[in-house]
This record gives sequence, C-alpha cells and structure tokens, in this order.
Amino acid sequence: MTTILGLSGSLRRASFNSGLLRAARDVAPEGVRIVVGDISAVPLYNGDEEAAHGMPPAVAALNAHLAEADGLLLVTPEYNNGIPGVFKNAIDWMSRGEGLRLFAGKPVAVIGASPGGFGTTQAQTHWWPVLRTLRTRPWWDGRLMVSRAGGLFDADGTLTDDKTRGQLAEFVAGFAAGLRKDRP
Ligand code: FNR
Repeated sequence: MTTILGLSGSLRRASFNSGLLRAARDVAPEGVRIVVGDISAVPLYNGDEEAAHGMPPAVAALNAHLAEADGLLLVTPEYNNGIPGVFKNAIDWMSRGEGLRLFAGKPVAVIGASPGGFGTTQAQTHWWPVLRTLRTRPWWDGRLMVSRAGGLFDADGTLTDDKTRGQLAEFVAGFAAGLRKDRP
C-alpha cells in the first residue's frame, strides 16, 4: 500500500481545495491511500508556547500521519498571489523539533484550485522555496492548477466536473507511481 498524506490549506466549510483533496482521495488507484489531514485545530505558531508546552496535539497528530506517509500532497488555495497564512503556519509548526526530520527526502506534490483564471499558479510557485528549505523532494512530473473553480464544484465544495476529476486521477496516479519507483 502506498500512503499519501493530503493537506488542504483552507478552513472554509465549502472550500474548493478541501473538495479537491476529497476528490483526490476518492480517485486514488487501487493500492494507494490518501489520508486527509486536518489543519483546522493548529494554533498560531508562538515560540513561547512551544517552549512552555512543546508541540500542540493537532500538530503531533499531523506529524504522526506524515511519518507514516510515503508522500505529501499539498492542496493550496492562493491568497494575494501567495500561500494562505493558515497553511504556512501549519507547515511551520509541523517542521519544528523532531518534525523537521519527517520532511527530509519526502516526496511532495502541490495542486490547488481557485475561482480565478490562473488556478493557484502563484501560490504553488511560492511553496517551492519552502519545500526546498525543508529538504523535501518536490514531484515535478505533473501539474494541476484548477481555475474557474466556481463552475466545477457544488455549494458544498464537492467536485462535480468530470474533466477535472480525470485530470486529478491522472495526477494522483502519476504521483503514486513516482513514489513506488522511489521506494528502496
Ligand atoms: C483570495 N483569492 C484569490 N484567488 C486567486 O486566484 N489569487 C489571489 O491572489 C487571491 N487572493 C485572495 C486573497 C484573500 C485574502 C482571499 C480571502 C481570497 C480568492 C480565493 O482563491 C478563493 O477565496 C478561494 O475560494 C479560496 O480557496 P478555498 O477556500 O475555496 O479552498
């Protein structure tokens, strides 16, 4: 079994990106499991809190999933042409202490959805220096930028567009195949 930890960077109930992640989980081929992580309980990073109490339980839970995962899938919204603060905050927390070791050498793929015409191109690009600093292994072989998302998801944020679902299935299968190839 190939296991991928998937994280959506939106806290919004009907989020396009959370819907895209759920759809990715549903189209994963046989032998591939996407575990949907939840960043909603991750507090704002505060070094004083960290010094006093260590890693918050919500972050420890995400890191436990990351430790088990063969790869990481980031499903990123785009805010002001960059990474949404809540998403960066979650990854920053996860990278603290022993968490940093979990990212080293981990294959990471980034996708995203936005209602605009560029489909999170800028936010995806902004992830690369972060992922390089964390010494991950970015997966470059596929690209998925879901634009005009308003017409592709329903009011609950569930993906309803078959073409996008097909592109997503191809992306997930490609990433998973890359993970299997990488395995010692
Ligand atoms: C946005 N949005 C946005 N979209 C985009 O394509 N490029 C951008 O630069 C921005 N900037 C931006 C800033 C802020 C503060 C907000 C709140 C929103 C729109 C954004 O893509 C939209 O709200 C999506 O629905 C967010 O993703 P989820 O929550 O649907 O997953």
